[in-house]
Amino acid sequence: MAEVKELKPDLADDPKFITGIGLIDEAAAELRNISHNIMPATLSKLGLVPAVKSLCDIISSGKGPEVTFISFGIDGRLSVPVELSLYRIVFELINNLVKHSGATKATVQLMGHAGYINLVVEDNGRGFRQTTGANENSGIGLGNVAARVEYLKGKMDIDSMPGKGTTIIIDIPVNAS
Ligand SMILES: Nc1ncnc2c1ncn2[C@@H]1O[C@H](COP(=O)(O)OP(=O)(O)OP(=O)(O)O)[C@@H](O)[C@H]1O
Ligand SMILES: [Mg+2]
Repeated sequence: MAEVKELKPDLADDPKFITGIGLIDEAAAELRNISHNIMPATLSKLGLVPAVKSLCDIISSGKGPEVTFISFGIDGRLSVPVELSLYRIVFELINNLVKHSGATKATVQLMGHAGYINLVVEDNGRGFRQTTGANENSGIGLGNVAARVEYLKGKMDIDSMPGKGTTIIIDIPVNAS
């Protein structure tokens, strides 16, 4: 907006022009958000482990739960689809625990084993009752997680009960390095 005002000072007070530029600014911000969500800088530059660690640190530094991050056995980089999907999965699970769990403590574990990556997200919050049918829970987040796990030919196990906290365990096969 500022740059355009300098270039076209005569237009700067026209309401239509202002609305138009506002929309462009908004779209640009939105695009930045989306692309950051798809591939945040830490993820593309440093890989999955530092990116997830930084996510946990950000949550822990806020008012929400203290999120402990534990990782071992993942030394190099994983393939782009695996890094991206696992990041999106962790992002949604952390999002859920912040939004729904009321937990004071949570743990995110990312472990490399021969031939697979194991992700565990655990919280000490209120837990929830699992519904048997697909899509019976209110949102699309867990459905998306399940779809990503399936796409990567992995397995997901949700262990949650009202009052008992939630543990979500995901195994994703990767080529042994
Ligand atoms: N860690 C958790 N603790 C307590 N309840 C949870 C937790 N994770 C999920 N839930 C419950 O499962 C429901 C479904 O989660 P899901 O991510 O699919 O949807 P959402 O978070 O409500 O919406 P969306 O992800 O579409 O924004 C949630 O509404 C919540 O009731
Ligand atoms: Mg959700």
